[in-house]
Amino acid sequence: MRCPRGRQWRLQTAHTTYAVSLALDDSALVSDYWGPTVREPVSSWTPGVLPPFETVADVAPIEYATDGTRHIHQCEMRLDRGDGWFGAAWAHVGDEVRREDDRVELVVTFDDHAGTLRLVQHVRVSSGHDVVERWIEIINRGTSTVRLHRVFSGGWTVPGAGGVRVRYLGGAWGQEFREHQVDLALGSLTIGSRQGVTGHLFAPAVTVTPMAGGPPGAWGTQLAWSGSWRAVVEAAPYGDRARISMGVDDDTVTVVLDPGRTFVTPATLGVHSQDGVDGVARAWHRYQRQALARSTDAYHHPVVYNSWFATEFDVNARHQLALADVAAEIGAEVFVLDDGWFAGRKDDTGGLGDWRVDTEKFPDGLEELADGVIARGLRFGLWIEPEMVSPGSDLFRRHPDWIYRSPDRTPLLSRNQYVLDLGLPQVRHWIAGTVGDLLARYPITYLKWDMNRPITDGGRPGDPAGGEWPLQHTAAFHQLLRMLREDFPHVTVEVCSGGGGRVDAAVLGLSDLVWPTDEVGARDLLEIQHGFLRAFPPHIMNSLVSGLPGMRTKTPASLGYGFVVAMSGVLGVGADLLSWDAEQRRQAARFIALYRELRPLLQFGELTVHGSPSDHPYAREFSGGPDPDGRVCVLVWDTAGRRAAHPRDGGNQIRQDWRVFPKTLDPARTYRVRGTGSVAPGSVLASQGVEIGWSHAPDADVLIFDPVSGHRSSAETELPKGQVTA
Ligand code: DGJ
Repeated sequence: MRCPRGRQWRLQTAHTTYAVSLALDDSALVSDYWGPTVREPVSSWTPGVLPPFETVADVAPIEYATDGTRHIHQCEMRLDRGDGWFGAAWAHVGDEVRREDDRVELVVTFDDHAGTLRLVQHVRVSSGHDVVERWIEIINRGTSTVRLHRVFSGGWTVPGAGGVRVRYLGGAWGQEFREHQVDLALGSLTIGSRQGVTGHLFAPAVTVTPMAGGPPGAWGTQLAWSGSWRAVVEAAPYGDRARISMGVDDDTVTVVLDPGRTFVTPATLGVHSQDGVDGVARAWHRYQRQALARSTDAYHHPVVYNSWFATEFDVNARHQLALADVAAEIGAEVFVLDDGWFAGRKDDTGGLGDWRVDTEKFPDGLEELADGVIARGLRFGLWIEPEMVSPGSDLFRRHPDWIYRSPDRTPLLSRNQYVLDLGLPQVRHWIAGTVGDLLARYPITYLKWDMNRPITDGGRPGDPAGGEWPLQHTAAFHQLLRMLREDFPHVTVEVCSGGGGRVDAAVLGLSDLVWPTDEVGARDLLEIQHGFLRAFPPHIMNSLVSGLPGMRTKTPASLGYGFVVAMSGVLGVGADLLSWDAEQRRQAARFIALYRELRPLLQFGELTVHGSPSDHPYAREFSGGPDPDGRVCVLVWDTAGRRAAHPRDGGNQIRQDWRVFPKTLDPARTYRVRGTGSVAPGSVLASQGVEIGWSHAPDADVLIFDPVSGHRSSAETELPKGQVTA
């Protein structure tokens, strides 16, 4: 084997360097380095002594591997040219570095030896954050069709001597984003979704740390895709590296690459932080608020009242307006009418597809409620589930061929509904028209887009590209979200899929808010949020105060506990407000006023987590960001339920001198701890800690540190311009 020639590109993010070079006779890009910023060239990868029964491409840290080159371990692309010819061998034919504002993109092109396929690899970085974005294009320049049985977005090589500790987020409906951990010494771990949506089972985010020594820090990867997907973490027997491959699901997707067609994958994202898994979470958040956030204003991150948990399907104008009275009184900004407002929707068995207002529930039309809500000083929001149809609906009677179905099976009902085939242009146009008409007809400025079942029976008999339905469905969904932004920029968009079934980096860039879970019990929600915040940011995390017990945890929590939980992102209320007494309403109004004052900090500040919800007390600290005053806010909970276990006395007679040790105060500044009269330098407060006064609730508190002297240091580090060195 000839030695690879080696030509290196070093891509610079805010705090890290990502170095790749050409290797394997210029047939592939390999990873040379991914870690803290280095200014000098790093040594290029060399194959060393090849272990028996391995091939050089299998041990190489290849960025994008194709079958036919990598044979033994995971590859990113499996292609079938027909006639029993699989795979491709690549040769480098060109490269380019593109610069735009603070972004730098490396584009490297390879042609296959047969001269029919072109592979273009993209690597993009920015000086504004630490995320490396990667994707590929595959182009058929030949004359016959090629089938891609797998077309992932990329493989990430990470340090992994002795294997890797893999952290991922998963669960089920109502239990999304729970943190899981596996020590992977040898073999592979695969997670993903075959449901046509991102799914409740796993979030498309993986974080790894090397198990036995190796460089410090953690490496995180994500996939920016809202449909079926797969991630494979592989620890191989040789060498000191592990590999994470991510892409659209290869069980349910086959791409039919006809001559002349280009297929572009979604992006896979990678980040390194020397501060371990907490640092990886902060790096994701920084990217999400700087590069992904569709909006950063309070208007698109409002305090919502959603009536679903109060009324479910039993909605009518009079009752909803009575709820709106209290929502306005406590300081909510948007009133959202959830499911149940349209004809045939007495329960979850009917109505979907016939998006006409139910005139029995709203005899004077939806205007009565919408105008009434607006007259009370609130914005009006509406729920819709446009990808679905009920079997008894007029829409289904007119278009039974619009649903996913197979000729040999009865289409599967789930939650009593079918899924519309968004791969059909007429379905996409119908949805765009239906949603557009509703938004044009009523004064709706907030839309909750729901999706309440997995997609089964995918495919389109007779259509040679029917195997691409999971891609087509998701691309159409993304396109509809783009349409909403372009045509209705004043409409705040919340994405929901039976809770957190559609949370991923693609949705984060196309919506204002996501609904992370249908679990609204404060203690269980706190845990779900903890996992969510490992990969996704507070500014998109909508949480409602319900006052309801959790589905798993029955330990009581105070109303204030629920408010402090929901304050960790976008605060909303979902309780039956008419059952609240005057004191509960006053308490709610106080929390909402405080939240609105602190909103920029709590939504777009930097989050530092103290422990985990199994520790007590557990706290989340918010600092920096756009807050003009340089305040720091610590939300804290008695997660053990010791104080709330004694509701008679509100916990006040139980002596608990728990302290919080703030981690992000400026040591050179002096702070007033709001509500306590105590004033001290940041250095003292950080080292001695602050006793929790439990002044906002018996089992939760909001500690606010207002600076009283000194200058605020820059919230975000000043960054050099993105750069690439070759
Ligand atoms: C599932 C959502 O997660 C809930 O918040 C609610 O909107 C229901 N769907 C309505 O059917």
